[in-house]
Amino acid sequence: MGRSEDKIRRLRAGTPLIHEESLEELLKDTLNKGAFIPSTNVSEAVRTSDVLFVCVGTPSRDDGSIDLSQVEAASKAIGLALKGSDQYKVVVVKSTVVPGTTDDVVVPTLERFSGKKVGVEFGVCMNPEFLREGRAVRDFLFPKETGIIIGELDRRSGDVLFQVYEGFDAEILRTNIRVAEMIKYARNAYLAKDVSFANEIANICQGLGVDYLAVKRGLEMDRRIGRGRFLDAGAGFGGSCFPKDVRALVAKAKEIGVEPKMLKATLEVNDIQPYRLVALAREALGDLKGKRVAVLGLAFKPGTDDMREAPSIAVVDSLLKEGADVVAYDPEALARAKEIFEDRIAYGGSCKEALDQADACVIVTEWPEFSDPQVYRAMNGKVVVDGRRVLDPAALGSDFTYVGIGLRKGFRR
Ligand code: UDX
Repeated sequence: MGRSEDKIRRLRAGTPLIHEESLEELLKDTLNKGAFIPSTNVSEAVRTSDVLFVCVGTPSRDDGSIDLSQVEAASKAIGLALKGSDQYKVVVVKSTVVPGTTDDVVVPTLERFSGKKVGVEFGVCMNPEFLREGRAVRDFLFPKETGIIIGELDRRSGDVLFQVYEGFDAEILRTNIRVAEMIKYARNAYLAKDVSFANEIANICQGLGVDYLAVKRGLEMDRRIGRGRFLDAGAGFGGSCFPKDVRALVAKAKEIGVEPKMLKATLEVNDIQPYRLVALAREALGDLKGKRVAVLGLAFKPGTDDMREAPSIAVVDSLLKEGADVVAYDPEALARAKEIFEDRIAYGGSCKEALDQADACVIVTEWPEFSDPQVYRAMNGKVVVDGRRVLDPAALGSDFTYVGIGLRKGFRR
């Protein structure tokens, strides 16, 4: 059984393929209503649908550019299926694709394999998604924060997609396809830039003995900056989107002769940030060799079990390189972590178990349970490196050495 067949089998059985709160109930509910039909039969899916969303992956190539093979394969399959239909349908690209991909790759492929003329016998749109992992269902159903972008080949294509989103409480921007493709990259690059900015400022604050959290409040107070920005300093950004999308934009910029200095700097600051946490632990412990260090949080962010490009990977690898004994804990991502680290580290079945007898701990992902100061009582050593500022140092107690990202060791607010 191929990977797709296996995924479809699990979906039909009501088993989500990723961890997200309430996703399983929603899946079972839509299956029972017959509103969601997982299938490997593209022809049947195309024949019975008016709008055809392409949501396949666009992974990174070694040079940072994106691999379009899945987009090409999906376009070919839809093209072949459209051949047998005489109904006007709209193909909607939702995958994250660099500007020009829909016009230069998807449309010609659809026309070649369907024998049909775009804009006449079928329509095309590009409709970027801004879903966040761990809250994708909510972000899709309530897109007020991000709005909805419709990149349309022509008015007729856009009208069909506009109808799909009628009733959603969000601003809808109708534009052309290339602008829609670029909005996706510009948004992720913008947010990733904010995170790297926050980390750089936090590192400077740490050196100056200024509390970054206090500075952040001052930043957000300025209405030109505002709240809810991606200004939480920490271990760096990870996941399947930010790193990949910024790299893809860097590769595309170079391809067209634009030197992407800011985007490159965003990646460079991010690449070194996880090692900053290890440096803080080394500074507090003197030497990491033979020390038992608990790593709390492995997923790239809370609310998911996803470890793609998770900062925790660099933290663990660096601790191991320095001769530390690592024990790790995450409420959701342990299974994925075991695939990555195997038996090179130990795993705690709970936060308390991971902290038991630890000389130090490094908090990498801000799961709510790590904010409980009591759980750190299990530690042997009393060094806490708070890579996400989830703890109040005062609540921990004066017998602890607390080092928070953007807060100098021993600093009291
Ligand atoms: C992101 C975009 O938000 C979403 O719109 C897009 O569709 C996909 O990429 P996601 O990758 O799920 O979503 O995570 P997000 O919540 O945006 O966080 C991205 C990374 O930045 C995480 O590693 C997170 O820990 C980090 N981050 C975010 C910070 O370090 N500080 C912040 O202030 C915000």
